[in-house]
Amino acid sequence: MPAQTRKRSRTDAAARPPTTTRRYLVARAEEIAPGQSRKFILPIQGADEECFVINFRGEFHAYVNRCRHIPIAMDWVDNHFFAEGGRYLMCQTHGALYQPDSGECLAGPAGACGKFLFRVPLQIERGLIFAHPPAAPIERGL
Ligand code: FES
Repeated sequence: MPAQTRKRSRTDAAARPPTTTRRYLVARAEEIAPGQSRKFILPIQGADEECFVINFRGEFHAYVNRCRHIPIAMDWVDNHFFAEGGRYLMCQTHGALYQPDSGECLAGPAGACGKFLFRVPLQIERGLIFAHPPAAPIERGL
């Protein structure tokens, strides 16, 4: 029986991350277990920005390491982002809590609630995690 081939559909093309931007190797997926995170540097709009990738319940998400309350790093304890038993990401400065899979601030200072962390698009390929610099503007740090 001949092997089945599948034609590329418009859906396949739309689901792929943008190919016009460079991608940067962040880590091997197996190196970041559920509940863990890793920081990395990504060039974004002309500046090197500190970002972090998390494994939340087996799915990878990445964000610029910048709170939406005050634009400073969220982890004064280095690479410590998860809180509440891994249910939330927490800014260590004033305790803003973010939803790990969406980046939305759910609780904390009034200026942060309802805002979203700046997402870094990821691409997982053959067990490797690649990051794409976000195309949308981000708030610069202090
Ligand atoms: S700076 Fe993050 S909660 Fe205030």
